[in-house]
Amino acid sequence: MTGRYKAAIVGCGGIAQAHMDGYSMVDDVDVVACVDPIPEARQMYMDDWGIPQSYATLEECAYDAEPDIVSVCTWHLLHDPLTVEAAGYPSIKAIICEKPMAIGMGRANRMVEACDANDTKLVISHQRRFTPGWNKAKELVEAGAIGIPLRVDIRVKEGLANWATHSIDGAKFILGDPKPRWVMGAVQRTTDKHERNTPIEDSCIGLVMFDDPLQFFIQSDLWDNDCDAGKFFIRGTEGMLHVRETVLKLFNAETDGWKSIDLDLQEGDQAIGGNMNAKQVEELVRWLDGGPEHRNAGHIARDTVEIMMAMYESARQNKVIYMPMEEQEYPLELMIEEGKVVVEEPGRYDIRGFLDRSNIDEARYAQLKEDGVSHHQAMRILHDEMARG
Ligand SMILES: NC(=O)c1ccc[n+]([C@@H]2O[C@H](COP(=O)([O-])OP(=O)(O)OC[C@H]3O[C@@H](n4cnc5c(N)ncnc54)[C@H](O)[C@@H]3O)[C@@H](O)[C@H]2O)c1
Repeated sequence: MTGRYKAAIVGCGGIAQAHMDGYSMVDDVDVVACVDPIPEARQMYMDDWGIPQSYATLEECAYDAEPDIVSVCTWHLLHDPLTVEAAGYPSIKAIICEKPMAIGMGRANRMVEACDANDTKLVISHQRRFTPGWNKAKELVEAGAIGIPLRVDIRVKEGLANWATHSIDGAKFILGDPKPRWVMGAVQRTTDKHERNTPIEDSCIGLVMFDDPLQFFIQSDLWDNDCDAGKFFIRGTEGMLHVRETVLKLFNAETDGWKSIDLDLQEGDQAIGGNMNAKQVEELVRWLDGGPEHRNAGHIARDTVEIMMAMYESARQNKVIYMPMEEQEYPLELMIEEGKVVVEEPGRYDIRGFLDRSNIDEARYAQLKEDGVSHHQAMRILHDEMARG
């Protein structure tokens, strides 16, 4: 233990592995504790990563282990209560909270306000902002390679807040974090679909206007065609970019057709985990040491949440939604309550429900893990077996 900062993981499931990946590559930070209500989940992190202490609650961890930094790696609806709670503990100086930042503007605003009030640095884990593809794309746009940016096309699936948070945030990053002016959206929800315990849409679209002439067009769960959270298309007055985390293609008057841009990829350059989570931690350490604000600071992700919430709110009101939007609750949930979207095929289902560890056969999980089965695969197998009875 040689680091200047102590960190703790809150939520010992899938994505916390990426946070551990990052912390383990940064000498300034030692992970001293982990938190999870499920004993087997926290024991797994202690064993796999040599973490010395673990707790059932954040409160016990905060007073006993006194971390400087916590990673909030739980499901979405716990992001804001745990972040607000963490900001109130005396030892905690910084929080890295997973995406989507929050489900609803009230929740997102409370996170930013609690961190501001306690002088706690808040980072939202849009770690793809550190990928070589997105950074090179930003450089090219700033150098004028596509002229004036006109239009971003985003095509995702697996839920708007789950995936589009990355691509909306990424396109904003590349274009210098412009502020949205208005949003128009449409939503379908005829099945009782959830994602990590959050009610979500079957599909949706949105048109976002920034300062003239920039617009984003977003479609989610409509047309798959190899769609991805980290991939989008940008068209400008003088050229076009196909952007992915580790692949970048440029088309303009000088490229003689589509040209692949060399990204000088290094080992560990990947969308999730590896160098990206390490760089996210390094930038936080610099911020804690008095350096510039983090590129993933809470208020920046808050704007991304607002775009997604405004898509729902537009469908709810059948109106263009001008920023800042007024509705603070989760507009999709309000639409459900108000009968504005009606389930035609009854039966609640959760597209990430297989991640729930609270009722699994832990002995069988341990066996699968010993056999080399990945966490996600093991959880799918266990939930399939539980469903079959
Ligand atoms: N940044 C990315 O690229 C990325 C990728 C995947 C997931 N995520 C996000 O990470 C979050 C977690 O997803 P996951 O797939 O890791 O879920 P998961 O189910 O694998 O892990 C969540 C863990 O949180 C624990 N938990 C529940 N309540 C808790 C509490 N009160 N205190 C502490 N721990 C608690 C659970 O027991 C579980 O072990 C989600 O919001 C998801 O959107 C981000």
